[in-house]
Amino acid sequence: MKFFIDTANLEQIREAQSLGVLDGVTTNPSLMAKEGISGDAAVKSHYVAICEIVEGDVSAEVISTDFDGMISEGRILADLHANIVVKVPATADGIRAIRWFTDNGIRTNCTLIFSAGQALLAAKAGASYVSPFVGRLDDISSDGLQLIEKIRVIYDNYDYGTEILAASVRHTMHIIECAEIGADIMTGPLSAIKGLLKHPLTDSGLAQFLADHAKAKG
Ligand code: E4P
Repeated sequence: MKFFIDTANLEQIREAQSLGVLDGVTTNPSLMAKEGISGDAAVKSHYVAICEIVEGDVSAEVISTDFDGMISEGRILADLHANIVVKVPATADGIRAIRWFTDNGIRTNCTLIFSAGQALLAAKAGASYVSPFVGRLDDISSDGLQLIEKIRVIYDNYDYGTEILAASVRHTMHIIECAEIGADIMTGPLSAIKGLLKHPLTDSGLAQFLADHAKAKG
């Protein structure tokens, strides 16, 4: 399973990259705003800065909601760097735009996926990735992981090349369960990625090894 980090924070991206397990980055307008990035020029240079840190795909989301706006914005974003993937919402104009981008060699990530039907349409339009939001479904007492399972079955039935990017991952168990189901990628916060390492027996075992080594030396 590929690991993406879901942030626009350059420090966190650098830290994840330094672990040697990072395959890409996802951002969204809220994450960019959280870092205080606003204005066309600043947004573009921030995407380029992210692309220079990570060796992998970087999702950059369009703000326009109409077909023409998505196309002109998406073309500009895609021109910024070879690793940019244009993130487009799962709306009717979004699906039309994904088809246009696909036909014109621009890779896309269909975002805000909350149903298997949306994921099916995105795959038919040729999306490179679909982003089902696991955590946000869990937030409203719906089963986010069940949606990943359904999409996996549908994509395998028809051999769609679209990759399932489990998004809105909030904690380590989401990551492990997405891996069990067979999501192609997960995107989550740095805390969830680092949380996978936590185990008290690792900590106590290491302390014991070091103590025994010091005793034998001593
Ligand atoms: C997906 O690409 C989104 O950026 C993200 O995963 C949303 O996560 P949230 O529900 O924690 O905001």
